[in-house]
Amino acid sequence: MKNPVAGNIPASEITPRELFYNRRRFMQMAAGASAAFLASKVFATEKLSAGTSSAYGLTDKLTPLEDVTRYNNFYEFGTGKEDPARLAGSLKTRPWTLSLEGEVHKPKTFDIDELLKLAPMEERIYRLRCVEAWSMVIPWIGFPLSELLKKVEPTSKAKFVEFITLHDPEQMPGQKTTVLEWPYREGLRIDEAMHPLTLLTFGLYGEMLPNQNGAPLRMVIPWKYGFKSAKSIVKIRLTEQQPVTSWMKAGPNEYGFYANVNPAVDHPRWSQAKERRIGEFFKRPTLAFNGYADQVAPLYAGMDLSKYF
Ligand code: MTE
Repeated sequence: MKNPVAGNIPASEITPRELFYNRRRFMQMAAGASAAFLASKVFATEKLSAGTSSAYGLTDKLTPLEDVTRYNNFYEFGTGKEDPARLAGSLKTRPWTLSLEGEVHKPKTFDIDELLKLAPMEERIYRLRCVEAWSMVIPWIGFPLSELLKKVEPTSKAKFVEFITLHDPEQMPGQKTTVLEWPYREGLRIDEAMHPLTLLTFGLYGEMLPNQNGAPLRMVIPWKYGFKSAKSIVKIRLTEQQPVTSWMKAGPNEYGFYANVNPAVDHPRWSQAKERRIGEFFKRPTLAFNGYADQVAPLYAGMDLSKYF
């Protein structure tokens, strides 16, 4: 399979990340010996090491960590972009389990620490294109979801995969509102879920996921609009029928099940032809399948993508 995004990332492109690490090291040194010791203890538990995966490297400039962690969509913590950074600190991410159930031969509940060791972690720089026509470029850390699904042995009836976020209105105050039907639900066709680009994600920028980005684990499906990438997941259910997702319930004419990034099919209320990369002034054209067409277009051969939007 041809991979147009392959290539090494020039050192100049990873400056924001280097700056981030250098600043942190500087802060540790400046804080004096005992404080530095404490700081390193705290940071040590948050770090997440990963091999780099050049096959999935992008040459796009990374979105600064500050924007990645302060401009979020996570309606469980409010509908404002800055609400999740302000309010998601209350989410307890330990202990945490993920149940795999439904059409599988070996249903199992995994502890988060068991999951972290299940397969080699990879850093993958992916574009995230939100349905609201903004985008970011983020160095995610995780492993292909297929590694996990293989462990529970899907049955021949498993045609779809449903992702379900934690439901706990005490910890997630947004769930006391009716802005969406809770818990947040998303879904994929089984072949999309098994695709090597589909990443079960635990970290970004060399660290465990910040709460506002979906700690302790979320999905990242880079050729689809960002709302498909469910955060803070507790359940993955394999099903025979196509699941009804939270956004399909909220607006069936606006949010489809497939939600492949498609500049040719507008949202009923705005164009999808262009996007604003966070931190940039000028809009840029949106790419079909968010730039991953060579890898994923064959999954939709023969389908009318304006009907299956
Ligand atoms: N997952 C849950 N549980 N709740 C949400 O509100 N928002 C989605 C997706 N996952 C959302 C969610 C949307 S619309 C986007 S664009 C991405 O998360 C944003 O991810 P980020 O904040 O890490 O950039």
